[in-house]
Amino acid sequence: MDLDLLAVLRTPEGSAALAAAGRVAAAALTQAELRRRAAGKFGAAAAGMFLTRPGLEQATRGVVAGRRAARLRAAGVTTLADLGCGLGADALAAARAGIRVYAVEADPLTAAMAAANAEAAGLADLVTVECGDATEFDVSRVEGAFCDPARRRAGTGRRVFDPNSYSPPWDFVTGLAARVPRTVVKVAPGLDHALIPAGAEAEWVSVDGDLVEAALWCGELAGGPRRATLLREKEGPLLNASGSKRVPSYHLTGTGAQEAEVGPVRRFLYDPDPAVVRAHLVAELATDLDATLADPSIAYLYADVARPTPFARCLEITDVLPFSLKRLRALLRERRVGRVEIRKRGSALEPEKLRRDLRLSGEAAADLVLTRVAGDPTVLVCRPVPVGG
Ligand SMILES: C[S@@+](CC[C@H](N)C(=O)[O-])C[C@H]1O[C@@H](n2cnc3c(N)ncnc32)[C@H](O)[C@@H]1O
Repeated sequence: MDLDLLAVLRTPEGSAALAAAGRVAAAALTQAELRRRAAGKFGAAAAGMFLTRPGLEQATRGVVAGRRAARLRAAGVTTLADLGCGLGADALAAARAGIRVYAVEADPLTAAMAAANAEAAGLADLVTVECGDATEFDVSRVEGAFCDPARRRAGTGRRVFDPNSYSPPWDFVTGLAARVPRTVVKVAPGLDHALIPAGAEAEWVSVDGDLVEAALWCGELAGGPRRATLLREKEGPLLNASGSKRVPSYHLTGTGAQEAEVGPVRRFLYDPDPAVVRAHLVAELATDLDATLADPSIAYLYADVARPTPFARCLEITDVLPFSLKRLRALLRERRVGRVEIRKRGSALEPEKLRRDLRLSGEAAADLVLTRVAGDPTVLVCRPVPVGG
């Protein structure tokens, strides 16, 4: 800066230039911050993407979109309509799998960003983004359809839980399967099983133990009625240069209608992955593990032998106590337990309050499981079973 430049900046042209630079700088800062946050979802590919806050929040994780795209491609889909493509996370994953994508997005800014993201990823030849109403798209042009309806109210951004308030609307989404024999719909993991269309496969997906979404695979894409898919991003390879990555995945399938047997508490407890629980596949897992429930309404399994499984965390039960703070505190004192991990199903207790009330001290660690056994509030004191044993 010198005196001449200061004089120029004080002219009307100078202040207009300053205001414009300020707007660009603010927009660039927002993009930089969103890209930093998006790295958790998209890895290195995030660095070249244009993002909005709601678009990023609603976007499918790269690893989940990549696996869905691979399954579509393996089912023979070479042209796909992405009906309500958002920022394009699923569209880009499909294109990376070699699928020609026709993406439709109602919001003009989001549509422009999706097109820019396809270009930045070097996929512009495989992705066409049209700004418009997905319900008017001519699906006779494509072999497959994907719809990830917005589950937030436009304007307020508030979440909607009733599928009839999704956009595009639920009737359109479920009716798609009748028009395109290979249709996939992404839905909230809390989806009511009663809403699953007849003949569709409902899949629940978790990533590193966190439930992230459910999807309905319709028509020719449907396998069995229910599937739990567990992806292990932390175990997986790093991103490759194109931003796609493959990570280990584990699948459990079944009818979702079986009931596991009920028996006593046994030596080992299995805490099933949330995808298994939400897919109603606990009974199938029980059969695989030779395990039983201790309460018909609580999804913990108990077995005499610890078998390695990706579908549940296994703990060895050292003590079974009817719930009593005094007794539990005394037992943990005696064992010099200073650290506890608390998990619960079927208990109204608040883990953090319990942790404070226990006033722990000592160098040992334990796992506490708050649950019910045959209807009675019970605490199980446990220790982890080493992986593979
Ligand atoms: C959940 S987001 C899609 C996210 C996308 N699958 C991804 O991973 O990036 C749903 C999108 O559908 C758009 N949308 C809602 N109703 C639409 C309609 N009738 N036609 C086209 N787009 C629509 C919304 O603007 C929103 O961007």
